[in-house]
Amino acid sequence: MSHTIQAVRGMNDILPDEAALWEELEETLRSWFRSYGYRNLRTPLLEPTALFRRAIGEATDIVEREMYSFVDELNGEALTLRPEATASAVRAAIQHNLLYGSPQRLYYMGPMYRHERPQKGRYRQFHQVGAEALGYAGPDVDAELLLMCARLWDDLGLDDIKLQLNSLGSPEERARHRTELVQYLQAHEDALDADAKRRLHTNPLRVLDSKNPLMQPLIEASPRLLDHLGEASLAHFEGVQQVLKDVGIPYSINPRMVRGLDYYNLTVFEWVTDRLGAQGTVCGGGRYDGLFEQIGGKPTPACGFAMGLERLLALMQEARALEPAAQCEVYVLHQGSAASRIAFGVAEELRNHGLSVMQHCGGGSFKAQMKKADASGAVLAVILGEDEAANNEVSVKHLRQQREQVRVARDTLPDAVTKLLFLEDDQERA
Ligand code: HAM
Repeated sequence: MSHTIQAVRGMNDILPDEAALWEELEETLRSWFRSYGYRNLRTPLLEPTALFRRAIGEATDIVEREMYSFVDELNGEALTLRPEATASAVRAAIQHNLLYGSPQRLYYMGPMYRHERPQKGRYRQFHQVGAEALGYAGPDVDAELLLMCARLWDDLGLDDIKLQLNSLGSPEERARHRTELVQYLQAHEDALDADAKRRLHTNPLRVLDSKNPLMQPLIEASPRLLDHLGEASLAHFEGVQQVLKDVGIPYSINPRMVRGLDYYNLTVFEWVTDRLGAQGTVCGGGRYDGLFEQIGGKPTPACGFAMGLERLLALMQEARALEPAAQCEVYVLHQGSAASRIAFGVAEELRNHGLSVMQHCGGGSFKAQMKKADASGAVLAVILGEDEAANNEVSVKHLRQQREQVRVARDTLPDAVTKLLFLEDDQERA
């Protein structure tokens, strides 16, 4: 016998019970984006490898060891499955001259790929939803993005997600900080791990991103980039904070936050929770004013964020101990050939009235069909036996309340069903 084939490690099937929650979340996200005037952008999963190398940075974990990169054997092109979508959004904006005339507020949702070590909350295929405000220079748009996130946590009933902020200043300020940081790290070279030793010369800021617990005291005491900010950078940072204070969004400043991608300047932020174990960052983002030029476009300021859907869903599941969603409102049972033929018309008619209806398929006794109806989560069962068929009538049974089964004329069925469904809603509300 041959071996069964399993999904790739770290890449998950999302089965229907869980997918119902995904769909609900995706709908909430779309209307949330619309309420801030963000429009959808869809880019390919595959991009030229050079895009991510240039955008994310050569000396980052993502580019050094997490990308699914390969050479297309048919034409020799170097390709990569996108590990994130900011680079793709910027590429698309440049390629299609999207900012001609006006800046753009864009959003995307979809799978991303990183070859990380899988664990709870960390996968090799994961899903992000992200927003990119392209062509906006001021701190106002940075603040808007943060307000959006705060509203989303509220809409989803999630508390305990805390905002951490930092500023990475300008490239010149980073260069001055870098000199001081390299001197500091060199003076403590014995305490550096192998990764840090290597990055000391390629990308010393990345040393501050180390998760190695042994390195934390050294990192804590290192020179702070915040202390190297000039007037303009400080004013920008103040501007963001002012809006947060005005609107009442609590935050803390984390001077060691550098983010895992190299394209940031000025504002960077993360929304973190301690409810998800080690993978507590729900959302990350910041300003990336240099990225357009870095990948061949005109200088264009921009800011954005992305959040991990798996992490959001884990928080939602924890917050509301969810029961599987019902598959439909009405389940149609039928037995006997006359009744079975009528059942199609009955189900269609109920759908015409805006109801979600599952029609029993595959035959079986009424008892067996009733079990399926119950398991579907439907509120009502519509029953068609030979007797009902002969009299042009239909029986309706309430599946969630102790009530007498009723028999109604076929042409009054939609009314009867709607009444019973709304009655249940009213009683629940009362
Ligand atoms: P990032 O911090 O690399 O930023 O990822 C954003 C979020 O994606 C993380 O906070 C986390 O929730 C989720 N995430 C990342 N990796 C994984 C994984 N392996 N498994 C599950 N979830 C994961 C970016 O990707 C930037 N493009 C964000 C951005 C947009 N900056 C500006 N605009």
